[in-house]
Amino acid sequence: MKRDFLRLSDLSATEHETLFHRAVQLKKERAAGRRHQTMNGKILALVFEKASTRTRLSFEAGMMQLGGSAVVLDSQGSQMARGEPPEDTARVTSRYVDGIMYRTFSEERLQLFAKAATVPVINGLSDGGHPVQLLADIMTVRERLGGIAGKRVAFLGDCTSNVARSWIEAARLFGFELRLGAPDAYAPSASDLRDARGAARLVNAPAEAVRDADVVCTDVWTSMGQEEESARRRTALAGYGVDAALVKQAAAHAIVLHCLPAHRGEEITAEVIDGPQSAIFDEAENRMHAQMALVELLLGAPRTPI
Ligand code: CP
Ligand code: NVA
Repeated sequence: MKRDFLRLSDLSATEHETLFHRAVQLKKERAAGRRHQTMNGKILALVFEKASTRTRLSFEAGMMQLGGSAVVLDSQGSQMARGEPPEDTARVTSRYVDGIMYRTFSEERLQLFAKAATVPVINGLSDGGHPVQLLADIMTVRERLGGIAGKRVAFLGDCTSNVARSWIEAARLFGFELRLGAPDAYAPSASDLRDARGAARLVNAPAEAVRDADVVCTDVWTSMGQEEESARRRTALAGYGVDAALVKQAAAHAIVLHCLPAHRGEEITAEVIDGPQSAIFDEAENRMHAQMALVELLLGAPRTPI
């Protein structure tokens, strides 16, 4: 049976642990100039209904480094923009490739696509979450702080965003305390909080959210597709931006994360992004290593040449 990765809980705790170990190993071996052929002959399709820099490049480069290849299908320039149903795109794409990464809007579209596909589907960002981003984020916290269990993470800003939603899911799965700093209008949904089973809670005051945090994290205030709300969001979220004064309230050893792209000067200052506590560019790099480990896990053994 095919395995999908649509949310973090699609992998067991043991599989997550194996994945992080493998990602670290792949990162070390790349630095040492060695490469693997574990995806030899395999093809991953990257299907995008929204823009991307990191997700596209990290999957594409990662597949190539493992001896496989990637093909990109963008909504513009394909039949998706003309309304071909996601199920048909999934069925047809499955006939050509060994796995599909899909970036889309609603959970409903993601589920329809994954159900119709006959090869593994990886969620490359949807309204419900950004689980491949969280693999990189957790890898980065483990690398910088030695582990994530028992740590205190502060997420500031739009706590309804896909990235925030995956952080909430991660809090329960990986056993850390998540403080969500947001005004009520951008608070996490009651069902997301309920699913976190006490691991995540809303804290309205930004300084209280970050107090003694080991990790300070944010995401854009206006996600892709919400552009017409950006003025309203800027007003409502003013005061929840991550700046040097706020980072000072966190633990002295705290690291700062942001999935990127950032709106410098809005949800985070340039000074923090480029500052000594930022782990943001390691985080972006780790997308590739974590996803290489993920495709190995989902796509199975390489094809042997005849
Ligand atoms: N963080 C992230 O997914 O970036 P892209 O939108 O550039 O892929
Ligand atoms: N929340 C952002 C994440 C981008 C990687 C968005 O959906 O635009």
